[in-house]
Amino acid sequence: MRVKLVAGNWKMQGSLGGNPALLKALACGAATLESVAMAVLVPAPYLFQTQTLLSGSPCAWGGQDVSEEENGPFTGEVSVAMLQEAGCRYVITGHSERRARHLESDQRVAAKASAAIAGGLTPIVCVGETLDERERGETLQVVFRQLDAVIQGVGVHRLANAVLAYEPIWAIGSGKSATPEQAQEVHAALRSRVSSSDWVVGAGIQILYGGSVKPSNALELMRLPDVDGALVGGASLVANDFMDIGRAAATA
Ligand code: PGA
Repeated sequence: MRVKLVAGNWKMQGSLGGNPALLKALACGAATLESVAMAVLVPAPYLFQTQTLLSGSPCAWGGQDVSEEENGPFTGEVSVAMLQEAGCRYVITGHSERRARHLESDQRVAAKASAAIAGGLTPIVCVGETLDERERGETLQVVFRQLDAVIQGVGVHRLANAVLAYEPIWAIGSGKSATPEQAQEVHAALRSRVSSSDWVVGAGIQILYGGSVKPSNALELMRLPDVDGALVGGASLVANDFMDIGRAAATA
């Protein structure tokens, strides 16, 4: 059975003064949940604060992006080694906001995921289609293109050390999540795509759903057979909401 993972993506939000209340609530809350893994992905300047406050708690932490380069003249980028020093377990790669704003190609996302795995981090690799692509009936074509680049760049066996996240772009921050049918269709398709390269990796890989997950829709999404948790944006900034989603994943 795949353990569910509920990961909070803070995006470019938080403050040194405000973070402790949220992090302490998560450390306490996560300790009450046995069958689900919890994590927060925080802005890089808050990683060491997060490490201090979550160390020893069952809530893991990580970054929101990582460079595929080891070190050197890459202004503004954060390396795998730096994330390791901050005790990170996870890092998001290929979030649609980075693909769109920083023109990250499928190949670059694959290189980042590969670098993360090589350094012992678990990349949470995001895939997802725009509304136009969905309306044109191209959803699976788009997510397969994104996934295939990762399978090729990372190697299907090493993909066992990654997590996938299906995040339809039209559902992110819109308040309108995918329906359970839409989510299950894409998750099952992603799993069978991985399975066609390696059955064991396909059966075991966690596939998170992301896009307007909130306490009111979490349970129905978490109950879907191929949904193994959630990547939560807005609702992860409110301790009670995030913990409610964690509890939904634990009871699903
Ligand atoms: P949202 O964001 O939950 O605010 O829709 C999810 C994400 O972008 O990871």
